[in-house]
Amino acid sequence: MGKLDGKIALVTGAAQGIGRAVAELFAEEGATVYAGDVKPVAAAQRITPVTLDVTSAKGWASAVDTIVAKHGKLDILINNAGIVRAYGQVLDTELDDFTTVVSVNLTGTFIGMKAAIPAMRKAGKGSIVNFSSIWGNVGVGGAAAYSAGKGGVRNLTKNAAVSYAAENIRVNSVHPGLIRTPLVEAQSDEMNAGIIAATPMGRMGTPREVANVCLFLASDDSSFVTGSELVVDGGYLAQ
Ligand code: NAI
Repeated sequence: MGKLDGKIALVTGAAQGIGRAVAELFAEEGATVYAGDVKPVAAAQRITPVTLDVTSAKGWASAVDTIVAKHGKLDILINNAGIVRAYGQVLDTELDDFTTVVSVNLTGTFIGMKAAIPAMRKAGKGSIVNFSSIWGNVGVGGAAAYSAGKGGVRNLTKNAAVSYAAENIRVNSVHPGLIRTPLVEAQSDEMNAGIIAATPMGRMGTPREVANVCLFLASDDSSFVTGSELVVDGGYLAQ
């Protein structure tokens, strides 16, 4: 028996990296998974690709309507899609880049919740996992736009958790440290080595290690957990 038998899940940014690992693990655990992305997504057993740009309210409405029309419900939303794009400090970040990064990482999460919560409300339950980052909790010299968005996701999560707790809709955030994905592989070795050196466990995490945390938060195992921020960072934030 899977931990997500009978559940319907929507995972964003699911073409690769952490989102793909979440979609695969959820499908293994019995969920019917809709895997949304702007890039092509590979179909697999119990994984249905969905074209979804998280910055588009129309796109969200269409994705959620399609799922609810077919299954009558949406149990789980994983707001994983995210970009870094601009690694600069405030003075080195163009306004356009700042706006784009915040619109994917923070506004996308907001629109996603707005689209999914009415369906969860009707069903009287739901679990939402929003992707923040260790850079949503503490400062780092650079990636100003990313930090702004991820910090916003952290507190928007707590706000939504409190707002919808009485309706049994749980909202939690996940805060990965350095995880080996295409996003991180595109960064300089020097940057990645610096983060690993500052990580007590002395290594990168794997997408599966983050997916396992999402599984806990999505499943009924975490039925009294809401508004929490779960770090998956090899001890980085414990220092
Ligand atoms: P990735 O770059 O490997 O994958 C992200 C996916 O999101 C891609 O498939 C991309 O096409 C998709 N995406 C980008 N913009 C989109 C949009 N507007 N609409 C829909 N999909 C879109 O990234 P990774 O590493 O798997 O990251 C996943 C999440 O985890 C992100 O929110 C990221 O900020 C967060 N994170 C990752 C860390 C890491 O070390 N890899 C550390 C902390 C947080």
